[in-house]
Amino acid sequence: MTPNKYFTLDELRSRAKTRIPKLAFDYLDGGAGNEANIHRNRSGFGNITLQPEYLRNVTERNQKITLFGHTYDAPIGISPIGLANLIWPNADKTLATMAKKRNIPYLLSAVGTSTIEEISDIAPDHTWFQLYIPGKDYICFDLIKRAKESGIKVLVLTVDIPEPSIRLRDLRNNFTLPFKMTPRIIMDIVRKPRWAISTLINGIPRFENMVPYMQEAADKQSLNAAQVLQTSARLSEDLIKQIRDSWGGTFVIKGILSPKSAQAAMRIGADGIIVSNHGGRQLDSAPSSIETLPRIVKAVEPRLTIMLDSGIRCGTDIIKAFASGASFTFSGRSFMFGIGALDEQGAEFVLDLMVNEVDKVLAQIGCKDIMELDREYIWQDG
Ligand SMILES: Cc1cc2nc3c(=O)[nH]c(=O)nc-3n(C[C@H](O)[C@H](O)[C@H](O)COP(=O)(O)O)c2cc1C
Repeated sequence: MTPNKYFTLDELRSRAKTRIPKLAFDYLDGGAGNEANIHRNRSGFGNITLQPEYLRNVTERNQKITLFGHTYDAPIGISPIGLANLIWPNADKTLATMAKKRNIPYLLSAVGTSTIEEISDIAPDHTWFQLYIPGKDYICFDLIKRAKESGIKVLVLTVDIPEPSIRLRDLRNNFTLPFKMTPRIIMDIVRKPRWAISTLINGIPRFENMVPYMQEAADKQSLNAAQVLQTSARLSEDLIKQIRDSWGGTFVIKGILSPKSAQAAMRIGADGIIVSNHGGRQLDSAPSSIETLPRIVKAVEPRLTIMLDSGIRCGTDIIKAFASGASFTFSGRSFMFGIGALDEQGAEFVLDLMVNEVDKVLAQIGCKDIMELDREYIWQDG
């Protein structure tokens, strides 16, 4: 593990905050409404207690996971982050490089700041592509074609943006693209020289995957244009089936929070779902992913591979997700906090922290293999 003076995600988040302009940090850190859902994501994990168990030989421990025919070295992957390069220059490519090196999946966002082609070149066996249902069908099917031609094997359809949510921090910061260079924003950027210089060198981030389709938009960088392209209000089971059929490969639906939606995913013929509340960025009154996971598992397991994100910040959270029925986990902000705090090595450092803790906790609860975790490993009162 990289020697370092940071031991938790909270410490990395605090350091990232000092290095990223406020506008971009708030875009990363913030969520919908009063951000109650973000707090619920954390307390959901906090409310679970694990059952310590000894008198078992746990000298050999395994946390490799086989998912859709690929064996990954860790039980966590990287969630899709739109506009990642705005948060830290080159973040998309840094994350893809790390994913390949450490053999974990990296989900490139449809509204990422590098193209499908660039990222699949960097990490051909580790890139999954995340699609939003764009307003126009031809964009959707062209993106699918590009993903196929790039050799991507897993398509993830995100379904939880029927409308852009109200994110108060972004509104208060007047966050629009291209930036409106108000005196406040200029002062904000000037105070973060490393970010500013690196952004100047690497270029102002834009929605690279969407550029070919944005002739109709007034401005190729317009945040509104991208939001229109990614709004899923017209989503139906029929449309998702068409997408699934056109793709033909492994198909995952992200943003499931109820047994009913999970059963719909099964009817559609999805291979897997990601139980997710978009990191608290969509419905502020939504349940946390971890709280809703057991009832989803009950409704659809073992017919679907059930994965989870939203609120994971340490190895113990990963263990709790697996013990509650997940077969894999993802995190979005954790890896971005790492990069924001420690540049390129930060994402890998976050992975080290998590993997190390998973290993130690497995030993404490008497479990040799993360795949063996179930509700027996959760402490029950009485
Ligand atoms: C800044 C930011 C941008 C995001 N962009 C996308 C996106 O483009 N597509 C998507 O499916 N989810 C997106 N998400 C949601 C993440 O993929 C993931 O569900 C969430 O970050 C998980 O919660 P966590 O950050 O607490 O780990 C975004 C999240 C953040 C914080």
